[in-house]
Amino acid sequence: MILESLELLNYRNYPELKIEFIEGNNLILGRNAQGKSNLLESIYFLSHQKSFRASRMRDLVLEGRENAYVKGVIIDDERRFSLKVGISPGGRTAQLNGQIMETPGKARGVFKCVMFSPDDLYLVKGDPSRRREFMDETVEGLGPVRAQVTADYRRALKQRNALLRDWEKYGRALEDAMDPWDDALSRAGAAVVVERRKMLSAMSESVLRSYEEVTGAEKKVELGYRGSFEAGPGRREEIEKSMRQALSHASVRERKARTTLVGPHRDEVEIRLGGRDTRALASQGEQRTLSFCLRIAQKEYLESETGRVPVMLLDDVFSELDSQRRKGVLRAAGPGAQSLVTATEMPAEKQGGEGRVFVVEKGSVSVV
Ligand SMILES: Nc1ncnc2c1ncn2[C@@H]1O[C@H](COP(=O)(O)OP(=O)(O)OP(=O)(O)O)[C@@H](O)[C@H]1O
Ligand SMILES: [Mg+2]
Repeated sequence: MILESLELLNYRNYPELKIEFIEGNNLILGRNAQGKSNLLESIYFLSHQKSFRASRMRDLVLEGRENAYVKGVIIDDERRFSLKVGISPGGRTAQLNGQIMETPGKARGVFKCVMFSPDDLYLVKGDPSRRREFMDETVEGLGPVRAQVTADYRRALKQRNALLRDWEKYGRALEDAMDPWDDALSRAGAAVVVERRKMLSAMSESVLRSYEEVTGAEKKVELGYRGSFEAGPGRREEIEKSMRQALSHASVRERKARTTLVGPHRDEVEIRLGGRDTRALASQGEQRTLSFCLRIAQKEYLESETGRVPVMLLDDVFSELDSQRRKGVLRAAGPGAQSLVTATEMPAEKQGGEGRVFVVEKGSVSVV
């Protein structure tokens, strides 16, 4: 996919912006706090309809304004389409080719990108929720149909947790009230587990290969998926049954905890390097390289599952990596992929190279 042009209105520190990118490498230079990360974040937002670094939607809107939008024109094979996501106090809206979509969720993953950010270190170092978010983000990148799985699960979980929060209120009616949500949660939960297992088995190979490439095969990487309930390697229906059973076994504990204790929202991904747990034992550099390899794996997975090459957004990666790894990044980004790379200074690898160079200054962008 190629992001041909981008238009912003009141997004973060951009009152108004219209720019055109080229098919290959786009280098975005600027001093600190000028808007480099905001620019890439807006593109991520166009794809995922959420930010990877703000939890409140209104943080994305320029201070003092109410409404914002991000609009992109995207080339997907022979097809060209426009996608616009608006933010207003009432929520988000999405438009595809000028037509308002039924729900903004339907636009999720229509435009595909993979974001490399300095915060990616927490994919390895952070708590398990970071790795679950990574898996959900990957599923959501596969497009609206497969993204529905995570949305269904979240909805069922929310409803079920609401019941458990004050279960006494329901008296004898509790079982009847819980029943449909146990079904819904198990059904959606099993679908999430199937997606995650498939993804991790594909990504294990990618991560292993790219880690070897970048470091020269020092240590072996393994990804493992640890579920919160016992489920054999079976099909979706069998996993659903196991989850339903695990939920009924946990019912006393769940009432005490007032929350759902079983399901993919409690699952963990283990990343092992040379047989050791990376979260506690890997060095900072190893963690950084691994998180970078997870992004490459994400890109390769989106590509192999959908046949689309995602746009690569690389925020500040050059300041974080040594020259060997920088080369790895550039190799992973191309050929065939459009890349948007930010840096505070012209990186040595780029000098004299092809591509378009932009300079960001206080929320405005010019082509050099
Ligand atoms: N909603 C908002 N309204 C106005 N300004 C904002 C908003 N959100 C963030 N900013 C500001 O935008 C500026 C640019 O932020 P950004 O993270 O894009 O910088 P950057 O160019 O990536 O810098 P660095 O090199 O330090 O990473 C910051 O000063 C930030 O405070
Ligand atoms: Mg930044």
